[in-house]
Amino acid sequence: MLDWDHLEFYVGNAKQAAHYYATAFGFAVEAYAGPETGVSDRASYCLVQNDLRFVVTSALRPGGPIADHVARHGDGIRDVALRVPDARAAFEAAVAGGAAPLEEPRILSDQDGEVVLARIRTYGETVHTFVERERYRGAFMPGFVRLSDRARAPQAPGLRAVDHVVGNVGWNEMDRWARYYADAFGFTQLVSFDDTDISTEYTALRSVVVTDARRRVKFPINEPAEGRKKSQIEEFLEFYGGAGVQHVAIATDDILAAVRALRANGVEFLETPSSYYDVLETRVGRIAEATAALRELSILVDRDDLGYMLQIFTKPLQDRPTLFFEIIQRRGSLSFGKGNFKALFVAIEEEQAKRGNL
Ligand code: FE2
Repeated sequence: MLDWDHLEFYVGNAKQAAHYYATAFGFAVEAYAGPETGVSDRASYCLVQNDLRFVVTSALRPGGPIADHVARHGDGIRDVALRVPDARAAFEAAVAGGAAPLEEPRILSDQDGEVVLARIRTYGETVHTFVERERYRGAFMPGFVRLSDRARAPQAPGLRAVDHVVGNVGWNEMDRWARYYADAFGFTQLVSFDDTDISTEYTALRSVVVTDARRRVKFPINEPAEGRKKSQIEEFLEFYGGAGVQHVAIATDDILAAVRALRANGVEFLETPSSYYDVLETRVGRIAEATAALRELSILVDRDDLGYMLQIFTKPLQDRPTLFFEIIQRRGSLSFGKGNFKALFVAIEEEQAKRGNL
């Protein structure tokens, strides 16, 4: 009975990160925790847009787990937090299934009610917090105060929810982490690709997708594969300093409007080679969206038995070539864009070559 609760980013400057995600991506800054609210070691801003909830957190002093995380990894996602009806039961089941415990279940309460939190480790230094919040009516969770901030992006992109969160893990670690989610969460494998599916002339990767029974929470896991030059997964592992969250796919109901708004707000996307659109209709058949509009915005399309999907990838969200976002609109399809991997990788490699890392 899992669902997404929130994603927590550990960053060097949470005040500026909150401003960036609010202004560029259309979030409202809903809540704040810091010294003014009785939290002495950190500042956290909770950003909300429809069903999306991001928290950006930075350390207030040198040393300590947040500053150390940022020193090693740069800005990145620390916590993929999952909502559960019973955090204690979720924690005990996960640990019984082999998950590494990090924090035993604990209750946080204030005048608005209580939440129960429990925490386990996953790949790299990434964690999963189980959040039980049925008995909480306040802003985000105890320790936070509600802000009156409204969404302040010049154009509202209408982002709706998390679709999937992708982890990059080291050489030959993919199967181990897929098993981890099978044993600890009861997840099943949705699809898998090997390096014959996902390779270009230069770089390759292997990928597997694990998901819960309701297919709400979807975790693709990538590992590098041998290619003629350095895989984009290797580049991530080098610059992140190990395994971590590579991208978050964010669902929208109107990707054309979303990407227009995000571009107007200054978000940078990977560009798609123009030749991609010359053969688009041959590859995916008839779709509702005009090819000219997709070409103008660099939006990709893929199809499976169930329907089709549209997707686009941002450039990295920080100076390190690590975390990025995907914007996705599903029209029936459960695909993760296998048919686009080749076209996408060509575009990613052009960027990688510009950085001298190919
Ligand atoms: Fe994706």
